[in-house]
Amino acid sequence: MRAVDLIERKRDGHELTGEEIAFFVEGYTRGTIPDYQASALAMAVFFKGKTAAETGALPESMMRTGEVLDLGELPGPKVDKHSTGGVGDKTSLILAPLAAACGVYVPMISGRGLGHTGGTLDKLESIAGFRVDLGLDEFRAVLRRCHLGMIGQTPQIAPADRKLYALRDVTGTVESRPLIAASIMSKKMAEGIDALVLDVKTGDGAFMVREEDSRALAEAMIAIGRGMGRRIVALITDMDQPLGRAVGNALEIVESIETLRGQGPKDLEALSLERAAWMVSVAGVAPGLDAARARVREALVSGAGLRKFQEVIALQGGDPRVCDDTALLPRAERTIEVRAERGGYVAKIAAHAVGHAAMLLGAGRERVDSRIDPAVGFVLRKKVGDAVEAGEPLVTVHADGRPPEEAIAILGRAIRIAPQAPPPRPLVHAILS
Ligand code: URA
Repeated sequence: MRAVDLIERKRDGHELTGEEIAFFVEGYTRGTIPDYQASALAMAVFFKGKTAAETGALPESMMRTGEVLDLGELPGPKVDKHSTGGVGDKTSLILAPLAAACGVYVPMISGRGLGHTGGTLDKLESIAGFRVDLGLDEFRAVLRRCHLGMIGQTPQIAPADRKLYALRDVTGTVESRPLIAASIMSKKMAEGIDALVLDVKTGDGAFMVREEDSRALAEAMIAIGRGMGRRIVALITDMDQPLGRAVGNALEIVESIETLRGQGPKDLEALSLERAAWMVSVAGVAPGLDAARARVREALVSGAGLRKFQEVIALQGGDPRVCDDTALLPRAERTIEVRAERGGYVAKIAAHAVGHAAMLLGAGRERVDSRIDPAVGFVLRKKVGDAVEAGEPLVTVHADGRPPEEAIAILGRAIRIAPQAPPPRPLVHAILS
């Protein structure tokens, strides 16, 4: 087999076989196929798409370039979740302890933030001492002890994706639906899970802005997961304004803890409970979705979810006292209020722009190697639909080293005030399974 023949066939719109895809993926991962041929193939896929058979074969061969975790020794269902990412989306930090408190094993392997979206690992690292780099054996031990472990991508899991993603990032081929689906699912399917609950965001701050694109991505991932024998559910959820009120790493940990105490913003609480309920339901530890919803709510109200979060923080080397005293988390030097210039109703909080402003302040990364300031970010004092008077605070900016002027100017443009409140958008647009 020759790589150039496969590139030409894809370029001309023909289907590649599973064997040919495996040849290309393995060759690229081992270094026998060079970057320039892999980028040519990625571009051909970008323009020609993939057939259903190819969409299934690619993640499977990517997964097989690395270790596939065997969690068979854990005596219960193993379920993870994946979110395509958004601004202020800290639901993982809330729903994973809730699902674990209900008896599900949650082996959570997450990514870092890039661009306008935040990453779970960066948020967790704002807790002093928290280690996201556990080896796979340590990870298994933590999971056994408390049903929950939260680590970063290891080099052993789907190494093909690590290499291919970096290549796509610099060759204009990230935004290809079959390549995104394969990238996400190659990593998730390597986790040794029985089921997966996907949260595919839609709206201004999402990877996929249009709902039909989010649905198509969800359908591709469901088909891949099913083909690999897993139970998969996808929720299409709203990301047209930031989720909750906090945007920024330590600020989002504070809000997650408040939500686990039952004192969080309503949208964040509702979405976390719903996604956790789906995890409990697909795990089969509750008889149906309504029973799962009741179990998860009970875990919130009783404080079992918060205790689970505290337990995993301690087991992974972090300071568990943050759950009782959030003042122990990093705090910015100063706060600045951004105020409304006129009265009316908040009609829009452009999530993408808010995420970008947070990145400029130091809460996110422009490049993979940029340094994060855990303390900086925003707390939204108003959400879409809220009434506001001229001069009232709209956002509290938490700033440290970097001058906040540009971020504040972006925020000013991102928030629109109108004479009427807009019609409410649903939190969950659709559920696909
Ligand atoms: N997230 C991933 O893990 N891979 C992609 O290709 C896009 C988003």
